[in-house]
Amino acid sequence: MSDNTSFDGQVVMVVGAANGIGRATIGLLKSRGARVIALDLNAPALEAVKVEFSLGEEQVKLLDVSDQDAVVKAVSEIHRAEGRIDALVNSAGMTGPTNRRLNTIDWPEFEKTLRVNLFGAIWLTQNVIPIMQGQKYGRIVHVSSIAGKEGNPGMAPYNTSKAGMIGFIKGVGKEVAPEGITINAVAPAVIRTPMNADTSDETLKYMIARIPMGRVGEAEEVAETICFAASKACSFTTGFTFDASGGRATY
Ligand SMILES: NC(=O)c1ccc[n+]([C@@H]2O[C@H](COP(=O)([O-])OP(=O)(O)OC[C@H]3O[C@@H](n4cnc5c(N)ncnc54)[C@H](O)[C@@H]3O)[C@@H](O)[C@H]2O)c1
Repeated sequence: MSDNTSFDGQVVMVVGAANGIGRATIGLLKSRGARVIALDLNAPALEAVKVEFSLGEEQVKLLDVSDQDAVVKAVSEIHRAEGRIDALVNSAGMTGPTNRRLNTIDWPEFEKTLRVNLFGAIWLTQNVIPIMQGQKYGRIVHVSSIAGKEGNPGMAPYNTSKAGMIGFIKGVGKEVAPEGITINAVAPAVIRTPMNADTSDETLKYMIARIPMGRVGEAEEVAETICFAASKACSFTTGFTFDASGGRATY
């Protein structure tokens, strides 16, 4: 029996690859045989990932997902160079304003968070789907957040972007369901990554208190869920948001 969690012979794009969850996902994908293409806007961190995972020059690309033209170009260049894109993992994200009531947030700040977290996800999806349709196979995984399910006070742009992602994949999942393509999201609670490096101890305590397992999650644990959703093994689940919250959200 073949191992459907193996990525042997598959090309997997990982966006937001330079840190945290994206970086951990690269390690797991590589260990399961994938040819990984790592994309991020942080050049020094991307270079470190290239060295850590022994990636070739053509396997790392600078990309700002909030730039639609750049997304179109990156996907088309990867397709031309690799001949296929079996899976897209999108872990790029920013927190945006925190501890700010809605009416204190200027629109440019609000829009920036939407452009990175939500528009980027939409543009990536729009560009990989025709390639996956041609292959009659594809897996798309976007990293959402518990914030998209429950909402964090003081973080309206982030909540909106992550909830938007959850709604986005539901309908698109149904559109492409007959075409061999699945699109899912993963919604983590607080995970130990650089994104939380500046989170105060008080806020971390508050968040951990809401997690029945009583601890933060590790990037490697989220990577396991992502890799399942990005693999052939995820053959009968689409439009779904997997939970990675230590029991906080059970829906
Ligand atoms: N860490 C958590 O507690 C947590 C919880 C829930 C959801 N998430 C989500 O998980 C995803 C990964 O977060 P993380 O914790 O690994 O954070 P991280 O900051 O460690 O990694 C995010 C990566 O995205 C990249 N990125 C940011 N803006 C980008 C852009 N415009 N274009 C391309 N790349 C960009 C960053 O350079 C970074 O390498 C994010 O979408 C985040 O919202 C994280």
